[in-house]
Amino acid sequence: MDSDSKQNNSGTVRVWADGCYDMVHFGHANSLRQAKSLGDYLIVGVHTDEEIANHKGPPVYTEQERYKIVRAIKWVDEVVEGAPYVTTIETLDKYNCDFSIHGDDITTTSEGVDTYHIVKKAGKYREVSRTQGISTTDLVGRMLLMTKQHHTYLGSSESYLPGFDCNVTNFSQNPLPYTRVTNLLSTSQRITQFSDGKEPKPGDKVVYTAGAFDLFHVGHIDFLEKASQMGDFLIVGLLIDHVVNRYKGGNYPIMNLQERVLNVLACKYVSEVVIGAPYCVTAELLDHFKVNVVVHGSTTILPDENGADPYMEAKKRGIFQSIDSGNDTHTDTIIRRIINNRIEYEKRNKRKEIKLA
Ligand code: CTP
Ligand code: C5P
Repeated sequence: MDSDSKQNNSGTVRVWADGCYDMVHFGHANSLRQAKSLGDYLIVGVHTDEEIANHKGPPVYTEQERYKIVRAIKWVDEVVEGAPYVTTIETLDKYNCDFSIHGDDITTTSEGVDTYHIVKKAGKYREVSRTQGISTTDLVGRMLLMTKQHHTYLGSSESYLPGFDCNVTNFSQNPLPYTRVTNLLSTSQRITQFSDGKEPKPGDKVVYTAGAFDLFHVGHIDFLEKASQMGDFLIVGLLIDHVVNRYKGGNYPIMNLQERVLNVLACKYVSEVVIGAPYCVTAELLDHFKVNVVVHGSTTILPDENGADPYMEAKKRGIFQSIDSGNDTHTDTIIRRIINNRIEYEKRNKRKEIKLA
């Protein structure tokens, strides 16, 4: 609900949102975008690992990671660490919030109690529309299934990696029947809602970086924060799925181009994205965007298909710079966590699927 239901009292309307925000994605960001539109100041309460493990099963991202990523979402004004699982009037009062929001899906405690029953009864609850086609459960599913079904460019015969029956279309025949993969229907309206719609001002120093930015994680956040400090306007080039898959293999990227675009656009350090950037940072691209500096993190720079250094032109112009994010989290790190705790995550997905059925 992109509602105009801002409360018309004298002061600022302070909105409370809370949740797990595990494997933070644009669905979470979109709920926070809607929440912010209902008021003036948005406070987000994020649950601890212990609370989530008790009620839902173990989270994939640690609480410190989840706090940092939620803080980097552009509609968030403040994060409350370790917010209680059940939202109470005391919590709203403590942070001087007018009401609490949640997506239009029910969230329950381990005992099956609606976590918003208290604020609903007190008339201090508002609902926003859940974003279809994305969930943490779905992302975990992609990793467990090793499917490429989410890639935008593949036909059904290539949807599963070797070892899986690629003719499976019915989820009841699926190797993991409780794990499914859905698809996002990306629209220009969503992109408009997420983007700042601003251009660099005269004299602004334009910074450019390109990459996969798959499973938007804390390593990316730390990198983009530093990249944004190199200038005034940060442009992020998102590589197409096929290019990422060429150098990463397997079922990478776990999130397709449209999904990665929305994740990166929701980040407050980013001014603009290029949807499907060339792997090689060309002279045309640098001239078109009037780029002053090109940055890359500490990860290995792989050559282009023809063996060329993708940053050759930027280096020739003397505008290339390496950045050390100081963070060694990578997409593979996240996948390893899921594979290593496969049984636990399968159980978690099964519970969620039963709830959604
Ligand atoms: N949310 C949303 N759209 C999604 C996923 C989550 O609007 N696709 C919203 C939820 O409705 C909630 C907030 O994001 O208001 C935080 O959700 P969270 O507590 O992390 O749990 P889930 O709803 O279970 O998210 P997921 O299915 O991704 O685990
Ligand atoms: O691997 P990917 O293409 O997603 O990385 C995008 C950018 O983020 C790259 O410049 C990479 O070096 C940087 N990065 C980083 N620290 C991490 C993860 C990625 O600096 N932990």
